[in-house]
Amino acid sequence: MVDPRIRDVADDNRVPDLTAQWPLVLRGMLRHGLAWLAGDRPPGAALLSRPAPSPLRTWAPIILALAAIAAGSFAAAALALGGALAWIVAAVGVVALVFAAIALLMASAIAHVLPPPPRPECQLPSLPHRPGEPHPLQPYFRATDLVEYVPGEVWVAQMPLRFLGGQLGARMVVVRGDREGHLLIHSPIAPTPAILDQVRALGEVRWIVAPNLLHHLFVGPWLEAFPAARAYAAPGLPERRPDLPWAGVLASSDDDVPWDRSFVDHVTLRGHPFHVEVALYHRPSRTLLLCDQIENLGHAPETASALVRWGLELAGMARRPTAPTDLKLSLDDPEATRAGVRALLAWPFERVIIAHGRLIERDARATMIDAFAHVLRPGDV
Ligand SMILES: [Fe+2]
Repeated sequence: MVDPRIRDVADDNRVPDLTAQWPLVLRGMLRHGLAWLAGDRPPGAALLSRPAPSPLRTWAPIILALAAIAAGSFAAAALALGGALAWIVAAVGVVALVFAAIALLMASAIAHVLPPPPRPECQLPSLPHRPGEPHPLQPYFRATDLVEYVPGEVWVAQMPLRFLGGQLGARMVVVRGDREGHLLIHSPIAPTPAILDQVRALGEVRWIVAPNLLHHLFVGPWLEAFPAARAYAAPGLPERRPDLPWAGVLASSDDDVPWDRSFVDHVTLRGHPFHVEVALYHRPSRTLLLCDQIENLGHAPETASALVRWGLELAGMARRPTAPTDLKLSLDDPEATRAGVRALLAWPFERVIIAHGRLIERDARATMIDAFAHVLRPGDV
């Protein structure tokens, strides 16, 4: 049974900060697009495990169609004997030409932030400790109870979540945070009665981490359910949610944390005015926990809408774990992101749990290098 509040999340999740980033994305598109057209090739391109389909090729039908409309309109206007009709046809040609130029710029900008190669097989068909059974976290938006993901160490629960017309799903992770077995919850989802019962059966929830400025909607309900738990926020979140009793902010790897760092380590990924994120690493299970920094959408059949799949393909995001292209285009301090990613790549993780999309259960390190190649340089890995 899906918690009825999930509908509210879908309606509520269009946060003003996301629209505030669009001017940055447009500026980034101009800067990256012109750089690519001028022949600049980012150094991280050398780190991609294999070439990805060129965004220029993906966009080519659109660019060529607009250019053909422009050429046809100009030819028709020239052949017309004059008058208002010729001007109207010529105006259509100018508009088509402008759109063709914008499309070329967008494709070039996406190419400049290095879309990683597709990885449709990044998630295993079954969990290793449940061979032969269908993967319980597939498709990624299926509502689940708490699933034992790594025996005795890591548990995951999912819920559906619609966003901007597509199905994103959302994931929560529960890990053991110290030797006594106390629990840490990362990116909480709606606490259904069944999930609450399962978590209570595992042990005491001590810590709740809201890893970025978006994944905070259910911190309150989890604190109500576990009054002894303490909530820790990504930088900037306490200002955004002053109604919640935050116990601390995870500003950098140097923070003092109440859990055992030999169990759960963290790095704060910066470099974007909005998408600051606390990445966690669960050492005993070698599991990296990310939230919105990497998404893995656009796989069929989960992304049933051909239109959404096409949109993701144009954005260089379909069927691959990747940083969202809007985030890549609007980074204001890529060197800060690079420092965080280098720290993250130093952890010997074997799998990555993300909030939205298929899990990364094969070639986890190579997949993350591909996904963050836009900020990396040869020698970083
Ligand atoms: Fe998210």
